[in-house]
Amino acid sequence: MTEAKLEAWLDERRAFAPSAEFAAQANAQSSIYEEADRDFEAWWRSEANRLHWDTPPTKTLEWDLPFAKWFSDGTLNASVTCVDRHVNEGRGDKVAYYWVADAEGEMRTITYAQLRAMVCQAANALTELGVKEGDRVAIYMPMIPEAVVAMLAVARLGAAHSVVFAGFSADALSSRILDSDCQYVITADGAFRRGAASPLKSAVDEALQSCPNVKAVLVVQRTGGDVHWVEGRDYWWHDVVDRQSDQHEAKSFPAEQTLVIMYTSGTTAKPKGIFHTTGGYLTQAASTHHYVFDVKRDTDICWTAADIGWITGHSYIVYGPLVNGVTQVMYEGLPDSGGRDRWWKIIEELKVTILYTAPTTIRTLMKWGPELPDSHDLSSLRLLGTVGEPINPEAWMWYRQHVGGNRCPIVDTWWQTETGAILVSPLPGITATKPGAAMHALPGIYVDVVDNDGKSVGNGEGGYLVVTKPWPAMTRGIYGDPERFKETYWKRFPGVYFAGDGAKRDEDGDLWLLGRIDDVMNISGHRLSTTEVEHALVGHPAVAEAAVVGASDETTGQAIVAFVTLKLSAEDANKDQAPLIEELRQHVAKVISPIAKPRQIILTPDLPKTRSGKIMRRLLRDVAENRSLGDVTTLTDPTVVNMIAGLMTTSSSEE
Ligand code: WTA
Repeated sequence: MTEAKLEAWLDERRAFAPSAEFAAQANAQSSIYEEADRDFEAWWRSEANRLHWDTPPTKTLEWDLPFAKWFSDGTLNASVTCVDRHVNEGRGDKVAYYWVADAEGEMRTITYAQLRAMVCQAANALTELGVKEGDRVAIYMPMIPEAVVAMLAVARLGAAHSVVFAGFSADALSSRILDSDCQYVITADGAFRRGAASPLKSAVDEALQSCPNVKAVLVVQRTGGDVHWVEGRDYWWHDVVDRQSDQHEAKSFPAEQTLVIMYTSGTTAKPKGIFHTTGGYLTQAASTHHYVFDVKRDTDICWTAADIGWITGHSYIVYGPLVNGVTQVMYEGLPDSGGRDRWWKIIEELKVTILYTAPTTIRTLMKWGPELPDSHDLSSLRLLGTVGEPINPEAWMWYRQHVGGNRCPIVDTWWQTETGAILVSPLPGITATKPGAAMHALPGIYVDVVDNDGKSVGNGEGGYLVVTKPWPAMTRGIYGDPERFKETYWKRFPGVYFAGDGAKRDEDGDLWLLGRIDDVMNISGHRLSTTEVEHALVGHPAVAEAAVVGASDETTGQAIVAFVTLKLSAEDANKDQAPLIEELRQHVAKVISPIAKPRQIILTPDLPKTRSGKIMRRLLRDVAENRSLGDVTTLTDPTVVNMIAGLMTTSSSEE
């Protein structure tokens, strides 16, 4: 989407009002904004009633900027409020998950009663292995039901889980295990992708070479591949979990007990351990799931097509939907496992009503052609959502037309790992929607768009998105690093939360999120920092210096372009460098993850630097996106950037 095109959309301010039929039945009434505004703490206190409290809280918010406590004198058990409560209230036979495997035809149906039994058995097994309240447990698993069971079992014991996306490398896993001192790891032997098994436990074995504190590894057998086994450390899930009692008496924990640790990229090489606590996080995950997706517990089939290794999976595959007691689809595979119409088949077969996914996936599905969704019966769908990056209007319109049959509202939901739950989104039935706009802060959420000086901008203007009041699911900090937490989010504009995203308010005052304004890239909805990738590249013996930028990409939103100078002798410099470029790409995949592999690596004799020695990333981004170069006068050697632009046009991109 070019800036000019976006301007045209903004000018046109095309909006879609909710249909009368939808509006009449929607969960939310427009008065809820006013109700929340009258007393936002009271609003959140009443939303906390969605949970099953053992001791209902009398306190709501304690705010010692930037540290918040919500509902601090309440006590509860996260897994009871997600699972047992529904069974106890007579909904044990209701399906919690239709789990759909990578391979067509393989499916498991898990009711709330079955889920409770599985969670109890796993909690008993973890207790036997030594897991106690306050411990940290790393989970590194494919999209199988045991991943959800593992999260809930850890939570049931009052421990915190740190789920690491299974696409991350052994190095990334070990640094995360070490940072929060996880003493237990739950994993699987391998994972299936498009029918092929790939190993997973081998990465854990490699990671644990540098993690001496890990006492036990619990391994689900998914693929049946060969695994290396460490006696006394490694335990098969089927040996240890299956023989346990399916009864487990859950203890009650304080609302501020840490539940979730989730690492996310910041602007430095070291990922941040964002952590969330129980009461506030669950309240807002459940509340937003209810209102934003207009969820009807007894009739909806919700499908959040995301991975549990990301916050979207935590809040909208596990916690929000389970608190609300809905039926969900959980899918193991890729969009084209078993054919490019796999998603449409799943929706048709399971009569999915609510679909939530990322713009990058929508663009991929869009590339495969409208015939595929058009030839399936998708009439069960009644609401669509997107998350993770700005959605371009073309993709929004395609989603609306070919998936939603021009009938389903689309909620473009803005939030972050740090916010824990959705903060900005239309409310179906109330808010008109515009292709590409996230529209409004939700009831009880207060955001602003500010200029460089922190002053609120007017309609029609752009600036930085900030959140001006605390919210229940806000991160309680960066694990083990309160100073970095203050520095990163609370220093740029004193007193308000700095999200790191650019935003615009259109002439109607509606919000458009414009993407990151810092050095965080968004690759297919995955956050990666430029510095993280630069460090990985510089870690290779051939590399002298590296500068990485996120260049816009039609499918993945942004793609990584790296400019690299080598430590080479004149003789080596004349060799064919294609194998080295491929080696560097593989090196980044190994150090971080395959998703961090640069789309393109440009080998250059020099990098453009300011006189103070800073690499001018802005210029490199211009080069990577084939834009005309702006002001180059601050460079020590302005010819460098033209030379790089020349190299760029002669190098062909890999994918
Ligand atoms: C971006 C994902 C525009 C944004 C839940 C944010 C979005 C980062 C949207 C957080 C949206 C997320 N429109 N941009 N609807 N949703 N983003 O932590 O840049 O993986 O800061 O959380 O994704 O990514 P994270």
